[in-house]
Amino acid sequence: MADTAITVVGARKKYGNGKDVKHALDGLDLTVARGAVHGVLGPNGAGKTTLIRILSTLLRPDAGRVEVAGHDVVREAYEVRRRIGLLGQHAAVDEELSGYQNLEMFGRLYHLGARHARVRAGELLERFGLADTGRKAVKQYSGGMRRRLDLAASLIIDPEVLFLDEPTTGLDPRGRAEVWASVRSLAGGGTTVLLTTQYLEEADQLADRISVVDQGRIAAEGTADELKALTGGDRIDVVLRDAGHLGTAVALLPVPKDGITVDADRRLLSAPVTDRMAALAGVVRALEEAGIEAEDVALRRPTLDEVFLHLTADRAKEAA
Ligand SMILES: Nc1ncnc2c1ncn2[C@@H]1O[C@H](COP(=O)(O)OP(=O)(O)O)[C@@H](O)[C@H]1O
Ligand SMILES: [Mg+2]
Repeated sequence: MADTAITVVGARKKYGNGKDVKHALDGLDLTVARGAVHGVLGPNGAGKTTLIRILSTLLRPDAGRVEVAGHDVVREAYEVRRRIGLLGQHAAVDEELSGYQNLEMFGRLYHLGARHARVRAGELLERFGLADTGRKAVKQYSGGMRRRLDLAASLIIDPEVLFLDEPTTGLDPRGRAEVWASVRSLAGGGTTVLLTTQYLEEADQLADRISVVDQGRIAAEGTADELKALTGGDRIDVVLRDAGHLGTAVALLPVPKDGITVDADRRLLSAPVTDRMAALAGVVRALEEAGIEAEDVALRRPTLDEVFLHLTADRAKEAA
């Protein structure tokens, strides 16, 4: 069996025509290894849902080659469908039914026999920590519980490849943590997972590799660490005692001026550095010589938010 679970080459999809045409996918390429958790990270409107709908055979690409679990999504849609699970952006469960009844119903929809469907429903409730609440109507569930039930429903047939479209959007931090734990346990079981998210932290937490999508194309791809390295490596954060000295500090510190960001409320100045130790020593010395008091000086890796801003700003410049 091939070691690639998802292959997308030059995928295109447009909506509308003439002046109103929208290129939702504009030559998108993606490769996901079997067993990997791959994050597709992008802002609203980037093309994430369009990609998921194409991968799960709900929508045909206008052009490009798209294969999932070794089968072409257009020519062999049926073969693909038997091997995938999908958690859409909007839940498909029935509010009036219990969690157990929902899963049993999904089992029957997937042509499991009655007995097998009941067994599977029980197993999945157990696995997602819903065994105690399995008999309650879904309308009484919390957001996190509902999403875990959705996740359970997408796993009825034990898919080779699972698609999760913004699995935690709209959840509170607790619900998000619950769903993250569930996704992690899945990944441990060998299922290939492709998840989309607008949350940089979510991709960082869950994904082995991340593709940053913007305007229907991949803007960058790599591990969270590799993406962070793209912004030019580490940063130095300096918190001053007195926000009034931020301007002076920006002018005199030995760091590249065009990469500096200042947050006056937090009395914080942040700058990219190339040589970590030289930068740290240079900054401390410059502050001392100028008689500016610092509360904290620290080297750190960039956050994915900084990476994202950096990448999308570059693209905005290209387009201009
Ligand atoms: N059915 C549709 N008709 C017209 N435009 C659409 C349709 N679905 C999505 N779009 C547009 O295509 C672009 C990509 O949408 P989508 O794939 O939903 O992005 P995302 O999921 O990343 O927010 C957006 O500009 C969106 O407005
Ligand atoms: Mg979407």
